[in-house]
Amino acid sequence: MKPVIKFICLWILTWLEVANGQSVDIVCSYIFIGSQYMCSFYGLEVPNNEQYHVTISGDHMHGFSDYNVQRLQVWSSNVSFVLPQFFTKFPNVEVFDIRSSGLERIQSNAFMNAGNLRIVSMIDDLEFIAIYPNAFLGATKLETISLNDNNIQFIHESAFNGLTSLKFLYLQNNKISYLPTNVFSSLISLDTLDLSRNFLTTLDERLLSNNFRLFTLSIESNQISSIGRNFFSNLFELLFLNLSGNECVNDSWVVDVASSNEIRQSLFPCYNYPKTSFHGYNHEIYS
Ligand SMILES: *[C@@H]1O[C@H](CO)[C@@H](O)[C@H](O)[C@H]1NC(C)=O
Ligand SMILES: *[C@@H]1O[C@H](CO)[C@@H](O)[C@H](O)[C@H]1NC(C)=O
Ligand SMILES: *[C@@H]1O[C@H](CO)[C@@H](O)[C@H](O)[C@H]1NC(C)=O
Repeated sequence: MKPVIKFICLWILTWLEVANGQSVDIVCSYIFIGSQYMCSFYGLEVPNNEQYHVTISGDHMHGFSDYNVQRLQVWSSNVSFVLPQFFTKFPNVEVFDIRSSGLERIQSNAFMNAGNLRIVSMIDDLEFIAIYPNAFLGATKLETISLNDNNIQFIHESAFNGLTSLKFLYLQNNKISYLPTNVFSSLISLDTLDLSRNFLTTLDERLLSNNFRLFTLSIESNQISSIGRNFFSNLFELLFLNLSGNECVNDSWVVDVASSNEIRQSLFPCYNYPKTSFHGYNHEIYS
């Protein structure tokens, strides 16, 4: 399409959206937190519709602009998905913190323009159940993702694709009962993975086969009764493992592990119950 025609089409589309009332303006408060210039939302309401035309306004502090915003905070709000406008408006955001805000999902390509993000924290949302395909694609500098204390049940196999710098992934206290085999396979720098307090029943032996740098693994308080025999084969640097509170280990199970041989031996009861790992996973959820 010729640029002029494209422009006219866009203009008509925008005009139609506005005419239909499918447009919403949200206002952020700009403040400093320590040395970080922040855009903060509190009590924000955005309709649960990804087609809305969202614009972000608000008065910057003197001498500052959108490019100076390093932190974005959304607390006690009503926002069902990640607004892409957060990152097109503030391309230099390093920390994104959303909590108790009615979040339901991380949609596909939610972080496509968040190339400078280092830390994402999305916690305390009982409505939060699904992470869609390629949800984090584009946020290549991400080092820490905290998704604990939600109600997450569905994580698509490609949800964490592209996160080769990610070191810390916190998924504890959710409702995860199934993890696709390759869900963590992009995470070649992963240092710490917390899956404790979920509903996992089995660990596929290929689940962590690409996470050579994993140092700390917490899977306590699930319902695990079977672990693939080669589950620990590629975890050369694993130094901390907590598997207490699962079905195939008892409460006196040792937490600090010295060698993978010791792990293999002490987990012998977990290898005795071969199970098929697939149980009615609903892929429709992402469509
Ligand atoms: C959030 O917004 C939706 C409409 O998008 C509304 O139905 C719901 O009641 C709101 N929830 C709260 C807690 O305000
Ligand atoms: C391991 O998990 C159990 C809960 O099942 C907890 O009581 C214990 O403190 C944990 N151990 C360590 C060293 O964190
Ligand atoms: C707990 O399990 C370990 C090995 O997994 C075993 O050596 C120990 O005897 C068990 N303790 C009890 C109280 O069953």
